[in-house]
Amino acid sequence: MTILITGGAGFIGSNFALDWVRTSVEQIVNVDKLTYAGNLSNLDSLRDNHNHVFVRADINDYSVVLNLLQTYKVRAILNFAAESHVDRSIHGPRDFIETNIVGTFNLLEAARAYWGELAEPERQKFRFLHVSTDEVYGTLTAAQPAFTEMNQYQPNSPYAASKAASDHLVRAYCHTYGLPVITTNCSNNYGPYQFPEKLIPLTIHRALSGKELPVYGDGQQVRDWLYVKDHCSALRRVLEVGAVGEVYNIGGNNEKTNLDVVKVICALLDELKPRADRQLYELRVAFVADRPGHDRRYAIDATKLATQISWQPDETFESGIRKTVEWYMGNQAWTEAIVNGEYRTWLEKQYGNTLS
Ligand code: NAD
Ligand code: DAU
Repeated sequence: MTILITGGAGFIGSNFALDWVRTSVEQIVNVDKLTYAGNLSNLDSLRDNHNHVFVRADINDYSVVLNLLQTYKVRAILNFAAESHVDRSIHGPRDFIETNIVGTFNLLEAARAYWGELAEPERQKFRFLHVSTDEVYGTLTAAQPAFTEMNQYQPNSPYAASKAASDHLVRAYCHTYGLPVITTNCSNNYGPYQFPEKLIPLTIHRALSGKELPVYGDGQQVRDWLYVKDHCSALRRVLEVGAVGEVYNIGGNNEKTNLDVVKVICALLDELKPRADRQLYELRVAFVADRPGHDRRYAIDATKLATQISWQPDETFESGIRKTVEWYMGNQAWTEAIVNGEYRTWLEKQYGNTLS
């Protein structure tokens, strides 16, 4: 049998593919359009591995996707493909609608056509696992309890709204057509291969380059951090034993303010690679204009996952962030290969010319 993932040259998808090949003998077909965020070098170690098949394609290409499902007799789809950066969705939401909503729709249509032709027991066993985000639930105050699967959808950014729309389509395909779907809503991931536009890799890269470290607004916004390998293990577990039609929140109980996250990274770098001038990295923090509509706090209640399918994360924030800083320090060439033309244009658009 074979599984098919989309967006597997991106941050979480490539980690998932690497872990899958390490832990399973089952073939994995990896479909990715290779946008600015897709990076084939993440998959270098799989180049000669026959259990991993990479196909450059857009999830909006219905006939390509259907053909792949039929050719490889796929038993499960995991949909990672998305435009994923909130700030980019504020500058230009169109791609988010095209991929996150229309793309998911096309994928569902291809899955429905393929699944409809399957004989039993393959039809029973087929799964469509949709990888989504906690941002669909909106924002929390400091006093509110963490998001459960019962929270109302209140997306606040174009990115979050596009993911919410895709979640609704996935749900509707189960309710209306009986397509065996499962949706997961995960909190903020961090770890190897994350594109350096996101807070943690951006901070590490800029600190190592001696640059200022941008913190939006007052830096007191809270995110709930999960090491990417733990997200991947949760997805494998959900795929294995998750119930059709169910939604599972995934999180690691690691609520931190953004300023604290930046300070933890700075302290690790002070220990692992002290600046030549012996100044503390933290002195390079620069408070910059806030993100429009910035959600104040996310927090995930992952009780359902723990109690119904016995999943727990392996990493604490302290262990995961140390591994992450060490990975970026040991793989500076990976980041350097990214921070060229398009990336520079993005930094100017997002931060202007104010940062040194
Ligand atoms: P990413 O931006 O790093 O990677 C996205 C990948 O999708 C890229 O390789 C890109 O080339 C590919 N892609 C984009 N449009 C495509 C299209 N039309 N067809 C085929 N491929 C396309 O994103 P990520 O951080 O790895 O996130 C993966 C998924 O997990 C997304 O659906 C995201 O919403 C979700 N998620 C992310 C986080 C997080 O903290 N990063 C947390 C929860 C959920
Ligand atoms: O919660 C899950 C979501 O986490 C995923 O669905 C998204 O795909 C993923 O990008 C992430 O969204 P965030 O907006 O929370 O991540 P980001 O790394 O962009 O920002 C984290 C926090 O740090 C957020 O409050 C904004 C802040 N920030 C970010 C950047 C890039 C800064 O203060 N300075 C920065 O330069």
